[in-house]
Amino acid sequence: MAGAKNSALKLMAATVLAPGRHTLRNVPRIADVTLMAELLDRMGATVSRRSDDPDVLTIDVPDLMDPEAPYDLVEKMRASIVVLGPLLARFGEARVSVPGGDDFGNRPIDMHLRGLEDLGATFTTSHGVIEGRAERLLGARVLLEYPSVGATENLLLAAVTAKGTTVIDNAAREPEIADLAAFLTTMGAEVSGGGGSTITVEGVERLHPGEHTVVPDRIEAATYLAAVGMAGGSIAVEGARVDHMEMLLDRLSAMGLRVDDGGDRLWATAPGPTERLVSVDVSTLPYPGVATDYKPLLVALLSVADGVGILTENVFAGRFRYIPELVRMGADIRVEGHHAVVRGVEALSGAPVRAPDIRAGAALVVAGLAAEGETVVADAHHVARGYQDLVGNLARLGADVALGSAVGET
Ligand code: EPU
Repeated sequence: MAGAKNSALKLMAATVLAPGRHTLRNVPRIADVTLMAELLDRMGATVSRRSDDPDVLTIDVPDLMDPEAPYDLVEKMRASIVVLGPLLARFGEARVSVPGGDDFGNRPIDMHLRGLEDLGATFTTSHGVIEGRAERLLGARVLLEYPSVGATENLLLAAVTAKGTTVIDNAAREPEIADLAAFLTTMGAEVSGGGGSTITVEGVERLHPGEHTVVPDRIEAATYLAAVGMAGGSIAVEGARVDHMEMLLDRLSAMGLRVDDGGDRLWATAPGPTERLVSVDVSTLPYPGVATDYKPLLVALLSVADGVGILTENVFAGRFRYIPELVRMGADIRVEGHHAVVRGVEALSGAPVRAPDIRAGAALVVAGLAAEGETVVADAHHVARGYQDLVGNLARLGADVALGSAVGET
């Protein structure tokens, strides 16, 4: 399993906190990592892949940096907002373009800003740029009104060198947050409770460069499980962390996918060729609930399962844009508010479709595996933002899939 995108990007941002050479291993070779490297580079750091091992990233952070995340990068990758906390912590100032909405709808950052204000930062916004200042951040108790992943990360990154103790309550509990806390610990930070709903940080005077191996990508692992669920057969997903995917595995098992924990790998076997998956209801929730990022994959699976399944989205209200694409492929799905009612059909039929975002793009590719005839997924560059060689891996599993010469994946 490649390292998790949603951890690697934050670990890269964390390096801003300490000058010197940081080493990150198992960093996925994906477009978003390249964008984060470009952002760090614009701020003055040097990011390089090791020539003898391209999964290892070294990041040289200088004493002085330009504390700014410009619009052209923030617009391409919302995760850029996570440099706000470390820049304020290290330089007492930060300028970050206001991220706009995206394919999931309006995505505010009010909780990031309010939490950082609790630590003593002040913000002004003009001409689309948030300017943050903090003479010296001071530890405080911050109660998040929702366990936002990004807000928890920005707060954690700001708190590690704040004066005194910070307690983040109702923190997001995603494994990628525990991973960030572990990396910060290698940098000399004093963090306890990372991955739980209360994180306590004792601020330290200064940090030193860190070294860490990125946690395996649970969403990527789920993508291969979904591929097997759609196309049949069995798979061993090397390095998948079963303990990070419990709720999802429960739902997939209820649908009839046999999943076995092989210690350092996950085995999955689809029902026999004459049997179908069975429909279940699923709700997305913050971790340890079923992640919203799994949802397009689940909708694809339900679209060919036996029965009716209701999928309820509780994290991003607008994350349904790929559904008309699945309907183009013959799926029977009705969206009502934040519910998708999926009536399984016997088979999908291949069609030209368009990937609206990373996860939906992967789900359309996976759906194409089970569809009769050819599926051409346009805007497949979205998939490359988050997946290292999805097409190559599926082809190695026996799928008839190829990267098109323009932007398409079939
Ligand atoms: N929210 C607010 N105010 C805030 C922050 C969040 O209202 O200040 C709302 C959001 O609008 C959303 C909910 O809270 O409705 C959850 O957002 P959260 O902050 O938890 O998500 P995020 O940090 O923006 C990360 C991942 C997403 C993943 C979500 C949920 C990264 C770079 N992104 O986003 O991953 O879906 O957590 O788990 O880590 C992806 O990888 O394709 C992706 C979109």
